[in-house]
Amino acid sequence: MSQTEREHWNTRYSTEGARSTEPALFLVEIADRIPDRSRILDVGGGSGRNAIWLARRGHAVTIADISESGLQLARTAAAEAKVGVATIAMDFDEDPIPAGPWDMIVDFHFIKRYLFSDFARVLKPGGLLVFCRATTRNLERNERPPRPFLLDEGEGWSLLEGFELLVAREGWSAEERHEFEALARVPAAV
Ligand SMILES: C[S@@+](CC[C@H](N)C(=O)[O-])C[C@H]1O[C@@H](n2cnc3c(N)ncnc32)[C@H](O)[C@@H]1O
Repeated sequence: MSQTEREHWNTRYSTEGARSTEPALFLVEIADRIPDRSRILDVGGGSGRNAIWLARRGHAVTIADISESGLQLARTAAAEAKVGVATIAMDFDEDPIPAGPWDMIVDFHFIKRYLFSDFARVLKPGGLLVFCRATTRNLERNERPPRPFLLDEGEGWSLLEGFELLVAREGWSAEERHEFEALARVPAAV
C-alpha cells in the first residue's frame, strides 16, 4: 500500500505541482489559539500550504510526508516565502512518528487511524491536535476522496477519545465538502 501511495503522490506532485498554496480555512479559524513560537508537526503535510503559513506566523514547523516530490515543493515555497520549514521524508505505515515532544500536531486530509494514540504520546502535556477529514457523506457531492480515505459519519469523535475537545463539528463546509473538523488538547495525564 505504502509503495503505491508514494508513487501516486510523487507522480501527482511532480505533474500537477502544489495542490493549493492557501492554508486550510479551519487552521486559519483556530490559529489564535496556538501558543506563540510553537513546535509543530504537520503529518502528511505534502507541499506545505499549512506549514508555510504557520512558519510565517513564527512557529517552528516540521512536515513529515511520504512524497519527496511534495516535500521538495514545500522547501521551494518556504525559501520563496523566506521562512524555515523542516522536512522529513517518511512512511507513517513503516516508520516511527517523529518523537517531539510537539506543542501541536496538524493533520489535514491525511487519515491513518492508528496514529491517534501516537499523537497523544508525542504531544507535550496540554499540546494541541488540529484534525480535518472528509466523511463518507462527502461522496453525495464529490467523487474524491474515495471511500477508503473517508471517515464514517460520527467516527471523528471516537478517534479523539481521551482528548479534550475544544472544537469538534461535522457538516458541509463553505466549499461544499462534508468534513469532520476538530481542535483537541491532550490532557496532562495522558
Ligand atoms: C490529501 S494530501 C494532504 C496534504 C496536506 N495535508 C494538505 O492538506 O494540503 C495527503 C498527503 O499524505 C501523504 N501520505 C500519504 N500516505 C502517506 C504515508 N504512508 N506516510 C506519510 N505520508 C503519506 C501524501 O504524500 C500527501 O502529501
